[in-house]
Amino acid sequence: MVTSHRSRVVVVGTGSVGSAVAGAIVLQGLCDELVLINHNPDKAEGLAMDLMDGSEFIGRFVSIRRGDWSDCRDADVVIVTAGPKPKPGETRFQELGAAIDIVDPILRAITRSGFNGILIMVSNPVDVMSWFAWRRTGLPRAQVLGSGTALDTSRMKAIIGEITRLDPRMVSGYVIGEHGESQFVPWSTVSFIGKSFTQYLQDNRERYEGVTTEVIEERTRERGMAIKALRGGTSQGIAATVAGLTRTILWNERRVIPVSTLIDGEYEYDEHDVFLSLPVALDADGVGDFVDLHLTGDELAKFHESARVVREHCVLIADRLRCQS
Ligand SMILES: NC(=O)c1ccc[n+]([C@@H]2O[C@H](COP(=O)([O-])OP(=O)(O)OC[C@H]3O[C@@H](n4cnc5c(N)ncnc54)[C@H](O)[C@@H]3O)[C@@H](O)[C@H]2O)c1
Repeated sequence: MVTSHRSRVVVVGTGSVGSAVAGAIVLQGLCDELVLINHNPDKAEGLAMDLMDGSEFIGRFVSIRRGDWSDCRDADVVIVTAGPKPKPGETRFQELGAAIDIVDPILRAITRSGFNGILIMVSNPVDVMSWFAWRRTGLPRAQVLGSGTALDTSRMKAIIGEITRLDPRMVSGYVIGEHGESQFVPWSTVSFIGKSFTQYLQDNRERYEGVTTEVIEERTRERGMAIKALRGGTSQGIAATVAGLTRTILWNERRVIPVSTLIDGEYEYDEHDVFLSLPVALDADGVGDFVDLHLTGDELAKFHESARVVREHCVLIADRLRCQS
């Protein structure tokens, strides 16, 4: 008799991001069952049918259906992508008021279902939403994370790949801190084809005229806005990123990825009660060990600035946590 556990992923919100995340999960055959929840059930039903129609041509059969909150109870991973449609030119923090009105009832419903798996927050501002989700659900810290700067890290690597015309995966390093304006690259920790990236740039000054770490960092920070200006929103990069996080968790890969996680006095970071991205080992239990990056003084100052900005916005919505119903 086959006794293996059937893996279930629930995606909440089936707009641009939710649809792309669902598609990436199905195309990679990451789970046995994908359940879609939307406040307009027809949208979830339509997406489920649309995705199922490709079954003949994908590597592995995934059962896909519209669901409801009770489906969260036995889910391994729940991914929250619901939120207001981001407007071109609007910062992630400008979405906060509208986002929390949408996300708080969703988190209450997930909690009421008895969910005890890994919760991945994608809705922006994602660090604030992840902190709120951790507090609202009462789940252990390992079980709540935000996609955070996993996407920005992939963007930074993609930009280096575009400049050098080499595979972006040759870059080892991270964007850390807030998924937003105060994010930064601790260049002292970034390496590329066997040497520090700053050394690589120095050695190839003539070939990459005008390219500096500052230019790469700024292009990384602006990448989301640039895509929004060109096509109205981002969805494919974040979808690949969230599918990557889901795979690492479901397949117990223990990949080290920067995700938004509770910082509570680890190493030199010296911050408490705030969600920010740092590289962590991800596996079937969720967020595991932190990596001690040994940041320089300047880099630590930037990390604290990210913490200040995120905390300032958490304060604005903390009152909601008093309301339990
Ligand atoms: N973390 C990241 O890197 C990242 C990247 C891109 C987008 N996002 C965020 O993802 C979210 C969704 O963006 P999008 O482009 O898919 O927007 P969208 O408008 O296309 O989709 C939003 C989804 O939220 C749902 N929704 C809206 N109001 C709701 C309500 N009251 N209750 C339940 N569900 C509701 C909609 O039905 C829709 O499915 C936004 O918060 C956006 O900022 C995050």
